[in-house]
Parts: sequence; C-alpha cells; structure tokens
Amino acid sequence: MSTIIETQNLTKQYGEFTALNNLTLNIEEGEVFGFIGPNGAGKTTTMRILTTLLKPTSGKAWVAGHSVSDDPHGVRRSIGYMPDFFGVYDDMKVWEYLDFFAACYDVPVNGRSSMIDDLLALVDLGHKRGTYVDHLSRGMKQRLCLARTLAHDPDILILDEPASGLDPRARIEIRELLRELSNMGKTIFFSSHILAEVADICTSIGIIEAGELIAYGDMNEMKKQLRAHRLIQVQILGDDLTPLKDFLLHADNVDTILSGTEAEIPHNAVRFDYTGDDAGLNLLLSQMIQQQIPIISFNEETGDLEDVFLQVTKGIVN
Ligand SMILES: Nc1ncnc2c1ncn2[C@@H]1O[C@H](COP(=O)(O)OP(=O)(O)OP(=O)(O)O)[C@@H](O)[C@H]1O
Ligand SMILES: [Mg+2]
Repeated sequence: MSTIIETQNLTKQYGEFTALNNLTLNIEEGEVFGFIGPNGAGKTTTMRILTTLLKPTSGKAWVAGHSVSDDPHGVRRSIGYMPDFFGVYDDMKVWEYLDFFAACYDVPVNGRSSMIDDLLALVDLGHKRGTYVDHLSRGMKQRLCLARTLAHDPDILILDEPASGLDPRARIEIRELLRELSNMGKTIFFSSHILAEVADICTSIGIIEAGELIAYGDMNEMKKQLRAHRLIQVQILGDDLTPLKDFLLHADNVDTILSGTEAEIPHNAVRFDYTGDDAGLNLLLSQMIQQQIPIISFNEETGDLEDVFLQVTKGIVN
C-alpha cells in the first residue's frame, strides 16, 4: 500500500485565529479514514484545503501524489468531493443533474447514460431518475450528491459529513454506501461528529479539536487495545463491598478497583479494569459465585467511545 493523502504541518489562520494547527496525517490507499471532531474543530477547513478550495497559511499537502498548492488540477481530477452544504438546481431532473456533472468532468456523451443508470442503482435512486431534484427528500439529495462525486470515477472521495441531518435509518444507508464504495477500492476521507457511529467502517481515524489533532491511529490497533482494557461493573445485594473487593484484589488480570462514588456508580457496585480474555472473565464470575458473593449484576461497560479512544491513544497522540 502507498500513501495517497498526506499533510505536513498544515496550518490555516483566519486573521489572528488559528483554525488548523500543524496537522500531519498519512492516509494509505484504500483506507476509510474518519475525521472526527465537534463543531468548529477544523474538519471542513482541512477538507477545503485538500480539495484545493482554500490555501493553507503554511504547511503542505499532497493528494494522489499531486501537491494541493502546485498542482491543483491534478488533485481535482483524482478526487470526488461532497461539501457540507451543497446547492441543488431546482429546474433539473435527477438524471440531468448527474449528466451535467459528468459533462463538467468530460465524461464522453456515449457512455453517460449507462453510467448514470449505474450510479443511480448504486445510491438506490433508480426509481427517481425523472424526478426534479428539488422534489427529493434530504436523504435522497445527499445520496444524489454522493453519486455526483462519483461521476468521473475518482479513486479518492472526500466527504464532509455525508450523513449530517439525516434520520437514523438514512445514516445507516449512507454508512452502507461508504462500505460499498470502499469495497470498490475507493479511498475515503470523511468527517463526522460522532465516533461511535462510524467506528465500525473506519480503518483509521483522527480526532480533531480546536484545530489540533488530539488522537490519530489505525482502527484495528485501537480496537485491540480497547478489547485489552475492559471495564467490568459488578453490583451486589446489600452494601457490604468488602468481600468482593478482597476477592478482586487477589484475582488475576484485575486492576484499578473502584467502588461507589469513586467511579460514579451505584453505592453497592464495584468497577474494575480487566485485561484477561473471555475464558478468564467467565472463570472470575464463577469463582465469585462459589465464594457466595451476592451478585445481582455483572456487566461490561461500553463507556463513551471517544473517552476510551482518547485513553488508549494517549501514547500515540501527535
Ligand atoms: N472564512 C472564515 N473566516 C473566519 N473564520 C473561519 C472561516 N471559516 C471557518 N472559520 C473558523 O474556523 C474554525 C474551524 O471551522 P471548520 O468549518 O473547519 O470546522 P468544522 O470542524 O468543519 O465544524 P462543523 O462540525 O461545525 O462543520 C471555526 O472556529 C470557524 O469559525
Ligand atoms: Mg464542517
């Protein structure tokens, strides 16, 4: 695999205000990179620089080997870009809209009609071929816009919050579509506010806040580390936690035992960090029962994925 999107110390200032500070990223061909951050973090700014719509104040970036500053045309040919807000043309039908964009990208006339059919099938809008664009629902418009970014068959898709403003079902549909595009071999760089919602389709991820990249890494590596640290909560009948705590103090693979208010959990509960495997966890539970510890619940906390992610990435934060 080779690097397909690279940024080096990318910085953008609006007057005195630093919207993006020294962003350094490396994205390999075929990756699905999730760029996660709250409002105003600098996601759109970064994507506008990568798509050559905005010049960085300092730093460099390359897309498909083309420098965004020195060869913007090369960059534009390689990417499909879905902006965060996009206008649609009210007097155009769905097929005309795609035909228009295909023409902009010099797609030859004779291949366009079947290409439009393929794109509409991909985004599940075949039945809306002849509908006026402004009569589509928001989710449909979003899918049409995604189809439009594919009109010139780019290798790289840069999608600014492709699922924003959609209902949960439509968000899932967009996610499935991204998965399909990834299976087709596209590299995808997309932004989102919510890590938990996109974690399962990303191969790597960057978390940005106030212009700073605060966590960045390979998703499988993260997941492995997340699995290695499981937070288990055990709740008992009554409120004498001593036997349970004594037992846990001597158990294998158990760390950081906290109870009640220390961990903001119920007063009759204990939470600990478990680093063993499933078989070990099962053994731990059966031993507790043998010791007649009056357990009423035993469960793994999923926690806030962003928090856990930040914890496990502490070591590799740029
Ligand atoms: N043209 C501009 N002039 C001045 N400040 C700007 C401009 N564009 C963006 N900013 C500021 O830069 C910061 C980053 O904005 P950006 O749009 O990149 O954030 P974002 O992560 O995309 O946020 P959102 O999730 O709301 O889309 C914000 O504080 C924003 O106010
Ligand atoms: Mg934005």
